[in-house]
Amino acid sequence: MESKKITVPIIRSMKAQGEKIAALTAYDYLMALFLDDAGIDLILVGDSGAMVFAGYESTIPITVDEMIYHTKAASRGIKRALLVADMPFLSFQISPEEALRNAGRFVKEGGAEAVKVEGGEPMAETVRRIVNAGIPVMGHLGLTPQSVNHFGGYKVQARTEPEVDQLISDAIALEQAGVFSIVLEKIPATAAKKVTETVTVPTIGIGAGPYCDGQILVTHDLLGLFEKFRPRFVRVYAELGKEIREACARYTEDVKLVKFPGREESY
Ligand code: KIV
Repeated sequence: MESKKITVPIIRSMKAQGEKIAALTAYDYLMALFLDDAGIDLILVGDSGAMVFAGYESTIPITVDEMIYHTKAASRGIKRALLVADMPFLSFQISPEEALRNAGRFVKEGGAEAVKVEGGEPMAETVRRIVNAGIPVMGHLGLTPQSVNHFGGYKVQARTEPEVDQLISDAIALEQAGVFSIVLEKIPATAAKKVTETVTVPTIGIGAGPYCDGQILVTHDLLGLFEKFRPRFVRVYAELGKEIREACARYTEDVKLVKFPGREESY
């Protein structure tokens, strides 16, 4: 029996019901299908795909057209999970109008059910504009990777009291602007707890400790596919990179030694 389609109101209600939200990233049809089958509640077509799928050094270069391509592919694999598309760098920062136009493309062309934007108070007007057009928005605070050059690296954020106060103000501004959830990335667990207790919308943590209303990881990290670096907050559930290398090495050897194809694999 198929379980109920996850919608934005369901994600919101999970906080009130104390049910944790399990979220992961996908950039293609097959991965989205696997995650959906596994019961993941929310699938994010993250701009992290710029790094773990396309091999860039940061999330900055990926374009709206590329993100829409990934969103379309992922949408074909999903029956149950909520599909959220990440708005890439400069697709929403220039003006609320341009942000709305791009958000609309993710929904109309990509099949996304919601979009995610990075940033706090300065993004509130933009969030309001998109939400008022009927497109649900997920916020993203703490370490916002599109601002890596401003931060000077992927460092833990909100470590001081004034920074935590700012984080809370940002979360309140996003909630008032109408977001349905907020990603909290790479911040102390105590700071994430304060935000989670302050806002009524669910917080979804990545490197933000156990007190958030849900958790998200980059799937390529969790599966051991992305080996360039492994943040401390990642739990690696499988070593698929190693398995792929071993399987393909065995295939190479079989081809070289004419052990493949065999009689049963031939016509
Ligand atoms: O791009 C991404 O995958 C993200 C998640 C890590 C939250 O923003």
